[in-house]
Amino acid sequence: MIQMKNSSNKRILITGGAGFLGSHLCERLLDEGHEVLCVDNFYTGRRMNIAHLLPNPRFEVMRHDICFPLYVEVDELYNFACPASPIHYQFDPVQTTKTSVHGSINMLGLAKRVKAKILQASTSEVYGDPTTHPQHEGYWGNVNPIGVRSCYDEGKRCAETLFFDYHRQHQLKIKVARIFNTYGPRMYPNDGRVVSNFIVQALQGEDLTVYGSGQQTRSFCYVDDLIEGLVRLMNSPDDVTGPVNLGKPNEFTILELAERVIKLTGSRSKIVFQTLPYDDPHQRRPDISLAKEKLDWEPKVSLEAGLKKTIAYFKG
Ligand SMILES: NC(=O)c1ccc[n+]([C@@H]2O[C@H](COP(=O)([O-])OP(=O)(O)OC[C@H]3O[C@@H](n4cnc5c(N)ncnc54)[C@H](O)[C@@H]3O)[C@@H](O)[C@H]2O)c1
Repeated sequence: MIQMKNSSNKRILITGGAGFLGSHLCERLLDEGHEVLCVDNFYTGRRMNIAHLLPNPRFEVMRHDICFPLYVEVDELYNFACPASPIHYQFDPVQTTKTSVHGSINMLGLAKRVKAKILQASTSEVYGDPTTHPQHEGYWGNVNPIGVRSCYDEGKRCAETLFFDYHRQHQLKIKVARIFNTYGPRMYPNDGRVVSNFIVQALQGEDLTVYGSGQQTRSFCYVDDLIEGLVRLMNSPDDVTGPVNLGKPNEFTILELAERVIKLTGSRSKIVFQTLPYDDPHQRRPDISLAKEKLDWEPKVSLEAGLKKTIAYFKG
């Protein structure tokens, strides 16, 4: 039977929709009444992240690797497919670069064909080990092109180039979000990302591993805040292409984070120190003035409130 589409409801494709961020975005867009097509090759994504959405008749899942072309009819496309934690993206670095580069070419080609708006989940890693602080969008970055993290960092940088060339050359409507460290329920438990690592270690009564002296800083944004920023970016006027930093501008040392997790979990775990991995950035904090100005967005959830929700998820 032919189903008529409500004009305000869109058909939205989310690549990487079964992953941590993608699954929250699927949920949010379904709640808004849209039709959501989740495309994922389940490399790091998990069925359990989207299982609760499957009964929704407006939700569809397709197993597909975006390194290969895809032909579907959509109005908007969020390109989230890419392993995001160092353990996962360094496991098969060639595939990581392919996902960012070939995957972006395929998704941009699709958006061009069907005249869809497309948003890229880029990353603060495009700034590398930054020499300016905090990082604003005009900073070009300090990235090692041949290191073990390069498959991710340079892949994402090339994806940004492709997005802007499709915009200039083919007038494609693009949006580029540079996402800073985000945490929350549905993070992969053992993927080496610091928040989930600490929580799982604390809940299991194991020592919390801090790399280096623990004085390197990070900013942590709760997932709901980030998703709000991404949806606002997609809905912004066409001349707002980004790149736009999305993240929480408060800065904590890794050691402070470990101490907070121990306190909030009530764990007896101790903190142990290990050698800092190669190419680990020393300092990260977003300058979000552009997001405030163009999207009227800033994160609202405190680290304490966000950690409590995430701890509750991992306890479950
Ligand atoms: N979580 C963060 O803090 C953060 C920060 C910066 C950028 N990002 C970006 O946001 C996006 C989502 O990150 P996440 O934290 O949800 O990671 P994630 O690993 O949980 O999700 C990535 C998803 O992409 C899928 N995927 C990977 N390669 C694919 C391919 N070739 N074809 C189809 N699907 C593929 C995975 O199976 C997974 O479901 C990524 O692009 C990541 O680079 C995330």
